[in-house]
Amino acid sequence: MCGIVGYAGGKRSVEVLMEGLRRLEYRGYDSAGLAVQLEDGGFEVLRRVGPLRELERAVAERDGGFGLVRAGIGHTRWATHGRPSERNAHPHLGNGGRVAVVHNGIIENHQKLRGDLERRGFEFRSETDTEVVAHLLSERLEAGMSLPEAFGEVMGLLEGTFAIAAISADEPGTVVAGRRQSPLVVGLGEGENFLASGVPALLGFTHRFLVVESGEMVVISGSEVRLAGPGGEPVEREPFEVEWDAEAVELGGFSDYMSKEIHEQPRAVRATLDGRLGEDGVVDLSEVGLDLSGVRRVVVVACGTAYHAGLLGKYYIERYARVPVEVAVASEYRYSDPIGDPGTLVVAISQSGETTDTLAAVEAARSFGGRVLAVTNTRGSLITREADGVLLTRTGPEICVAATKTFVAQVVALELLAMELARCRGTLPDERLQELATELRLAPERIQNTLELVSCSLEQAVSLFEEARCCLFLGRGIAYPVALEGALKLKEISYLPAEGYPAGEMKHGPIALIDETCPVVALFGDGVHREKTLSNVYETMARGARVVAVAPPDDREAAQMASAVLPVARAPEAVVPLVLTVPLQMLAHGVARERGLDVDKPRNLAKSVTVE
Ligand code: AGP
Repeated sequence: MCGIVGYAGGKRSVEVLMEGLRRLEYRGYDSAGLAVQLEDGGFEVLRRVGPLRELERAVAERDGGFGLVRAGIGHTRWATHGRPSERNAHPHLGNGGRVAVVHNGIIENHQKLRGDLERRGFEFRSETDTEVVAHLLSERLEAGMSLPEAFGEVMGLLEGTFAIAAISADEPGTVVAGRRQSPLVVGLGEGENFLASGVPALLGFTHRFLVVESGEMVVISGSEVRLAGPGGEPVEREPFEVEWDAEAVELGGFSDYMSKEIHEQPRAVRATLDGRLGEDGVVDLSEVGLDLSGVRRVVVVACGTAYHAGLLGKYYIERYARVPVEVAVASEYRYSDPIGDPGTLVVAISQSGETTDTLAAVEAARSFGGRVLAVTNTRGSLITREADGVLLTRTGPEICVAATKTFVAQVVALELLAMELARCRGTLPDERLQELATELRLAPERIQNTLELVSCSLEQAVSLFEEARCCLFLGRGIAYPVALEGALKLKEISYLPAEGYPAGEMKHGPIALIDETCPVVALFGDGVHREKTLSNVYETMARGARVVAVAPPDDREAAQMASAVLPVARAPEAVVPLVLTVPLQMLAHGVARERGLDVDKPRNLAKSVTVE
């Protein structure tokens, strides 16, 4: 949570920081701010509560513009310590206002540090944990240390997780930063260099990046980048190139990122399959670099949407490879006493590759010697460095807080894994693997058909939610995880209480919710126990429910009983969850838009949850 950005160089103006913040706003939008060293030696700080547009307004209204910037830092906040307010907005200043600090993460020993600083005469202006860093730095700068020296010493005093960047009015053209667990990358330019919480923030300026490892600090100026290890020792590291282009993070004619990313799903699936699925049905996951032949058990750890993808992964792995799969919510698993042995493959799914709980669950799984496979969308992310093997979903950057295209790509990646495990274990004949390969190759087309079908019928379904006070999503078998994902999408962007339930379990409690203000969204399709689901849906109708049927267009009975139909392309078992997911994403989007909500930045949420 929170996004930080830094710039050193003197080639560009404050717009470079603002552009970086715009692309990091998905990480938090409680407040935003920046601190810059101007060409004339001035040092200026601007902070505004609320989304980034408030800061944009303040920047635009500043008399005379900023001119070129020698160095600067910026921040977009997801509040942890202290409510959203201008006082709590970053950057925070040290005594005398000569040093400014931005921070992502949590400093766990901030109360003790704050008490000590107060006893030494420092006055605090905010309720944040971050302000201690600003004072600790200024204390050392006043004692004659340089900013990099002071920064290195202060990092050693901090407990918790953080990525911090700082500038000093007395050291023009330099930004110092460091991190422990929270993400930070360096962008390399010509005569200028950059820092950010994530690669997408800098794609408009560079495609060359340098990883900062946990525990390291970095000093950037226009002409150089110096990395140092925890003991201050210099570190040499090769840069890497990112092929995503800047357009991938533009709206490209769509009204919002969620809509754009929903429509990018056929491409996301195609890219995730590309080169990994031979004509003969042989899956090629050699890039992962793991020998899967000894796998006897699989544990999936993940959060939120990625957890739902894991539930679908369980279905496919157990069905194809006959290997038992446990799917665990990472925040629970990390504190469990995990059971496993070296024959257990731990699959950690995380779009961002940064989710703290998922990373901690991976660490917990290490206790029994399991090998870890990361399924992630973010090359170079923290999880890729913790894992023994990496399977990338290749969707391009996902900006909307609500995950859409990365979910379908995760499911496809897990299906490939299931097929590969089946091949290694000899649990499916070659002909069946070939069939599955053919089916999966059709997935992008089926998703595209579904997008077109749903666009024409969404309005009626959305209208059923005008007076809704809650919603039930019902599915069986492979449609059940999709029901969970549909409920999560609706909750997070329309703020409507929603539950995903196995249709048969609904009678054991949630049916009490049903009346005409609780629409039921029912999932039908091949291999999802259609008849049984139909009976359950009739039971809700008998209690006044209005039903949205998500079903193939030729399912007449589903269409007749429902108040609205969201049609999906008919699809085989390997593709059914993908096509059923699309209308649920579009429904959530439609309901949220109808309620006048910002679908890309739902309240209280941040895209990457980098705190516990
Ligand atoms: C889904 O729409 C949410 N953004 C959230 O549940 C998300 O999937 C979860 O926080 C996990 O994130 P990750 O995939 O980056 O680890």
